[in-house]
Parts: sequence; C-alpha cells; structure tokens
Amino acid sequence: MTDFAELLEQNSYSKEDIVRILNANGRDEELLIQKAHNLRMSNVGNKVYMRGLIEISNICGKNCYYCGIRKGNKNVNRYLLSDKEVLKAAEYAYENDFGSLVIQGGELESDAWTSRIENLLREIKNLSNNELGITLSLGEQSEDTFRRWFDAGAHRYLLRFESSDHDLYHRIHPNDALHSYKRRFEAIDLLRKCGYQVGTGVMIGLPWQTADVLAEDLLRMKELDIDMCGMGPYVEHHDTPLYKYKDELIPVEERFRLTIKMIATLRLLINDINIAGTTAMQTIDPEGREKAFKAGANVVMPNITPTQYKDSYLLYDNKPGTKDEKEDSTEKVIQIIKDTGFEPGIGVWGDSPHFKKRD
Ligand code: 5AD
Ligand code: SF4
Repeated sequence: MTDFAELLEQNSYSKEDIVRILNANGRDEELLIQKAHNLRMSNVGNKVYMRGLIEISNICGKNCYYCGIRKGNKNVNRYLLSDKEVLKAAEYAYENDFGSLVIQGGELESDAWTSRIENLLREIKNLSNNELGITLSLGEQSEDTFRRWFDAGAHRYLLRFESSDHDLYHRIHPNDALHSYKRRFEAIDLLRKCGYQVGTGVMIGLPWQTADVLAEDLLRMKELDIDMCGMGPYVEHHDTPLYKYKDELIPVEERFRLTIKMIATLRLLINDINIAGTTAMQTIDPEGREKAFKAGANVVMPNITPTQYKDSYLLYDNKPGTKDEKEDSTEKVIQIIKDTGFEPGIGVWGDSPHFKKRD
C-alpha cells in the first residue's frame, strides 16, 4: 500500500483513496491537516473572510427529518424579520466592514417572497453603495426566481445537497415531490446557469452514513465544480423524526473529527474554493471554528440576526451564541481569527479564486 504521505501528494484521488484519508488517525491525521493548511496558504492565502449572517425567517415549507425548524414542528415560535430589521442588520454589516452578507432562511416559494427578497436586495445594494456582497441561502427556487435575485444583486448562493447518496437522501427527507433528490441537483445546476458562485455542503455523522458515502459526497462536489462549501456535523434536535436514532450515531467528538477531515480532504481535492467553518462545529467543540481554519477553512459567518430572534432559529439542539449581542459575536470572531494566526478579511467580498479562474 502507498505510504500515507505519498498518498497525500497525489494529483487526483479515487474513492478508495478518500476513504483511507477519512479514516486517518494520529500522525496521518496531522499530516492531512498540515497538507490542507499548506494548500490553503498557497491557493487562497491566510485571510478568513467574514460574512454577516442574517437569519431572515424560520418559516419553512419543508419537513426535512433532521431539522428543528421543519414545518411539522409545532414547538417553534415562527418569525419573519421586517424589511426594516433586515436593512438595519445590513447597515450594521456595512458599517462594520464585513464586506459580505448571507441571507438565510427556511424554504418558501411564492411570488410575494420572490418580490420581497428582490426588493430587499436592491435596497441593500443602495444603502451600501453597491459595496456589500450578498450570498443567499433560501432553498430550492424556480429558475425565474434565481434569475431575478441574481439580477437584483445576489451573486453567491448556498444550497447544500445534504447527501449525494440517493437512498440516504430519501431516508432523511420525506419521500415526496417537495423533497426530491433530483430537483435538489437540478437547482444547483440552475444556480450555475444563472451566474451565481455556487456553494453546497453536507451534514456529517448522519445515521446510516458511511465513509464510502462521504467520499462520494466529496467526489460529487468536485464533479459539480463548486465554488464554496459549508459542511458541519449533524447535531440531533429533540423535536425531529431522526432523533429516535440518536443512540446509533457515532459520538459527537467523532463527528467533529470527521468534519475536520472532510474539510481538509476537500481542500486537497479542490484547492482554491472557499470553505466555511460552520456554527454546528462550534456546538460540539468551543474551538470548533478555529480548528476548521487550521484544517483549510477560510470563511466564517458571524450571526448578526437581531438577538431576540436567535433563540428561534434552532436547526439543532445546543446551538451556541443565541444569547450574544451581535457586537459581541463580531468582535469575538475577529479576535478568534487573529488568535489562530490568520488575518480577518475586512471590507472585501472575498470571492473564491476558483470562480474567478472559470470566467
Ligand atoms: N444538524 C446539523 N445541520 C443541520 N442542518 C439542518 N438541520 C441540521 C441538524 N440537525 C443544516 C442543513 C441545512 C442547513 C441550513 O442546516 O445542512 O442545509
Ligand atoms: Fe427547511 Fe432547510 Fe430545515 Fe429543511 S433544512 S426543514 S429546508 S430550514
């Protein structure tokens, strides 16, 4: 068998190679993280880009089996930010030199919603002299809606495919037209067609998920030629159908380690994309995001949603930072980036070189 260090130096990786990398322990695991860090420094540099995250609404038309704000969960205080609240948060991001915003919310599809987001995008562009970059994460939409939002100023879109494995996808989602595996991947293609920088991702440590499936996920990301990725550990939520499998999951520390290895391996596979250190990582390990930066992640998304709503956007149990005033979390994040030896990417969009090279 090839020596592990030699394996890391390859230019391409088979599924078997990736499974071996994901199973690495001890010294091999350290080598992987070191290699990912070197590739990060030479391809995307030492900056960690900040995106102010606005959780615009926890109202969702879907019923994903893993998610705390699924439509069927009656124990959620549903909210929808007013235009004024969104614009105030955007102004805050602009004044604090975030460079970019992410507007994320449950999945809603209606003409009224499309128009409302379209207007908000134009207003945010206006209030920031066209300077704030805007990423959307609002689920699957029609081509027309994707286009209207792109034309109104959004230029990046995050839509996780959650799992590339058809069977697993249907075990964690209801088996109906609203939760179609096919439509999810079609939506990702449409985003590319409309001109967006495309981001996707998966949850790690789901019931029934094997290293083989995770290797397939990474290969699918490579095949889709994504520009951005956000992956995080699956964290159970007590009010969801998947909760009953909680005793069959791998321990949370393992889910975390596996997420770090997934980030590092993705950096090996596609060197010049943006990879986020996610909030779910911090749920498991208070230093989760720092560890992600050291393993190749170069984006962080501090939550700037008005504090009174943060408690209601609970996709999983024990989400951190729901009591933070936004000022606290911003300063905290800048300090964390510096303490970890990286440079905060202030006041810039921080697009992935991968997208620019494709132009
Ligand atoms: N644990 C971790 N991540 C979750 N998400 C939803 N529910 C959970 C959970 N229980 C993730 C999904 C979705 C993103 C917005 O949040 O991957 O795409
Ligand atoms: Fe809705 Fe997204 Fe949660 Fe699914 S994961 S229920 S689409 S918010």
